[in-house]
Amino acid sequence: MVNSMQKPLSELIPGRLEEKNNAKPELVYGVDKKIRSSPRVTQILEQVIKTAQKTLNISAASVLLFGDNEEELFFEAASGPVGKTLRQVKLSTQYGIAGQVARTGKPLIVNDVARSQKFHKMIDDTTGFQTRSLICAPLMVQHRILGVIEALNKQDGSEFDEKDLEAVVSVATTTAMAIENARLYQTILEAFKNTISTLAAAIDMKDPRACGHSQRVMEYTAMAGGYFSLNPEEMETLKNAAVLHDIGKIGVDCCILIKDSSLTPEEWEKIRQHSVIGASLLKEITSLEMASELVLHHHERFDGKGYPSGLKGEDIPLGARLIAIADAFDTMTTGRSYHPALTTDQAIQELQNFAGTQFCPVAVSAFVSGLRIHSGGTQPNRN
Ligand SMILES: [Fe+2]
Repeated sequence: MVNSMQKPLSELIPGRLEEKNNAKPELVYGVDKKIRSSPRVTQILEQVIKTAQKTLNISAASVLLFGDNEEELFFEAASGPVGKTLRQVKLSTQYGIAGQVARTGKPLIVNDVARSQKFHKMIDDTTGFQTRSLICAPLMVQHRILGVIEALNKQDGSEFDEKDLEAVVSVATTTAMAIENARLYQTILEAFKNTISTLAAAIDMKDPRACGHSQRVMEYTAMAGGYFSLNPEEMETLKNAAVLHDIGKIGVDCCILIKDSSLTPEEWEKIRQHSVIGASLLKEITSLEMASELVLHHHERFDGKGYPSGLKGEDIPLGARLIAIADAFDTMTTGRSYHPALTTDQAIQELQNFAGTQFCPVAVSAFVSGLRIHSGGTQPNRN
């Protein structure tokens, strides 16, 4: 999956930044720079109004977006003295300057709102803010209006001019495109997460005794991972790898996976192949490439006696060491045909007994600490 929000905005909006805007190039550039790396709509809007307020030297700025329909606008971001209050407010598009701009798609500049019949005093009456002058521009993508952006009151008391209007309109266009991309990105992300969950469920269906195992391993691994300095991207990789750690079992015969009697050496070898199969499957998916490395090594042992590579100690990726512990803990506490379920304390004791041989001691400490803190009832649910 391509993270479109990681690309420079100039790549997302061909030609947009090349447009001439002699009025306030610093505003256009400032907003573009701020929102390049912000994948979420709220982050984008907060950066937009913050930069607009500073660059235009205005008292307040706000962005209003349509809700589920085009009848109402919601303050999604607002700066200035009453910004926090405004974030709870919605407006009908039937009234006011914002409503008109949202309906018509035509920007407006109003330098004396007291003389404007279009100005709707409700917001000022509610918040105590006194609007003197404003610019309002539509947030539009391919003739579709998403909402409006407003710039209110020059700090020095002067009037807005055409250059200010031009700058706000330009920023509105850039912002609208960024919002559209962020929404698209979130949609793709949700679809991706759903796919991951479905894949995890498919893995567990291969062995009915492992029902919910992948999800629990993911939750245990994330819990232990919280003790290490992982950035959000690394944590996401860790969670994806944990939930998909046994995806390679898709390529292993069901009869072997659910066999109650002892496995032959050949059957063991087939089972051991699942980490290699899983890694090779995930490696083909760009956004899971990092996770594939953790899946490949989730059966390595700290003493080097694991598989498939026989990696030892810290040569084993940290994420793989964490998954190995979560995997073993869940297997021990849920039981299998070859052993009854252990209690949490018994399983912890086993992990500690094998810290330094099978498991990474630091990772075991983190896991056990996390488990004890969460033992007040927030352990992963057993399905
Ligand atoms: Fe495994």
